[in-house]
Amino acid sequence: MKKTLIAKSGILCALLLVTLYACVHELPVPKGSTGTGSGGGGGTTPAPVTCSADTVYFQNTILPLLNSSCAMSGCHDAITHKEGINLTTYSSIMSTGGVRAGKPTQSKLYTVIADNSMPPKGSTPLTADQKALISKWISQGALNNVCNGCDTSAFTFSGSITPMMNTYCKGCHNSSNLSAGIDLSTYAGIKAVALNGKLMGSITHASGYVAMPQGGAALSSCQITQVQKWINAGTPNN
Ligand code: HEC
Repeated sequence: MKKTLIAKSGILCALLLVTLYACVHELPVPKGSTGTGSGGGGGTTPAPVTCSADTVYFQNTILPLLNSSCAMSGCHDAITHKEGINLTTYSSIMSTGGVRAGKPTQSKLYTVIADNSMPPKGSTPLTADQKALISKWISQGALNNVCNGCDTSAFTFSGSITPMMNTYCKGCHNSSNLSAGIDLSTYAGIKAVALNGKLMGSITHASGYVAMPQGGAALSSCQITQVQKWINAGTPNN
């Protein structure tokens, strides 16, 4: 029941985001602009800027990572919000997640992840790289920012598919949290759902499949194209 609710609201949010994204995408975006949501508690998604390698972007990296590692059903999702902590949106993360912009070591969101007290015992801890990304995002002001750097001509397993799965899916699909019996932390696990049609079915929100990522915004059409091209190329481990 809870899952259905979350799945439904996920689809709604995803649709809304896709619509918003499609609209803002048409407009020329001034470089460096992070739109109305920047720095505040606003719920609006800011306009995308061109990705810079030195910046960690909330919408591209931090939100999907928190969604798959912390905001699953029964933990810090909008319904359960354990200990009052809801890690599903920028405004809820800023108001309940214990973030002190600019100060990662004084931010509970970072310190509990850094010392592995979260996710709780029995879950897969975040990797050193993922911890560093959260720390860097807080250091850079914990902004609600988003960038557009996806390239449909890049679709290698190591360069595009693995990072995508790590950010959006792995927290709910690994050996210690095997949602639907699916492990997306390994090549073999990803290849299996690529070949049986479930990977494309779930990320395109096709009927007959459960929409993924659960509880989060849909992958962008560019990301979906990268997955499709990788599958068409024969799911190489490249
Ligand atoms: C917040 C946790 C969560 C995240 C994030 C998540 N999943 Fe899932 N996934 C689940 C759960 C729970 C199920 C089982 C759902 C059910 O049976 O109702 C599932 C089921 C699936 C299935 C089986 C779908 C079907 O119709 O049989 C696939 C494939 C899948 N997920 C892929 C992904 C991919 C790819 C991503 C990342 C883009 C992802 N998941 C992100 C929790 C998650």
